[in-house]
Amino acid sequence: MRTAVCPGSFDPVTNGHLDVFARAAAMADEVVVAVLVNKKKASLFTVAERIEILNEVVAPFGNVRVDSFDGLLVDYCNEHGIKAIVKGLRAISDFDYELQMAQMNYRLAEVETLFITTNPLYSYLSSSLVKEVATFGGDVRGLVPQQALERLDEKLGRTTSGGG
Ligand code: PNS
Repeated sequence: MRTAVCPGSFDPVTNGHLDVFARAAAMADEVVVAVLVNKKKASLFTVAERIEILNEVVAPFGNVRVDSFDGLLVDYCNEHGIKAIVKGLRAISDFDYELQMAQMNYRLAEVETLFITTNPLYSYLSSSLVKEVATFGGDVRGLVPQQALERLDEKLGRTTSGGG
């Protein structure tokens, strides 16, 4: 596999995402983590903030870079000569919608989708739950990378990222 794209909102990136990036990076020559700009859902972090966090998080990988896209993912793939989308599958509940999107993306542009089964350590994890738990004062250490934890603390005006 040459270049693969890992698309998402990453609001914020979680350790589950990071696990998928690492495993995709072990298979592909290059992995592009692509942040969706035109998301309808309200976000906690701006696209610029999410990209900044992601850039820090993927810095240790030699073959992972961050970009953003607007509109259809397959248009981004075509513009950049990308033939494969890589996504994590956490549970059967993800499957229906992911299958639909994968089939639609193939129908639209013959872009393949490859699924990596999420590490069971992170199978319950989502950005939405992390935001909810953190917003109400819960401890999300170990669920998101340190860089995301620090930004969550800043955004929510709290301190958990210092250690302990
Ligand atoms: O992290 P998310 O929000 O679950 O990621 C969803 C994402 C960005 C992968 C998906 O919504 C997407 O690909 N959006 C781009 C618009 C698009 O191509 N829609 C048609 C999908 S078949």
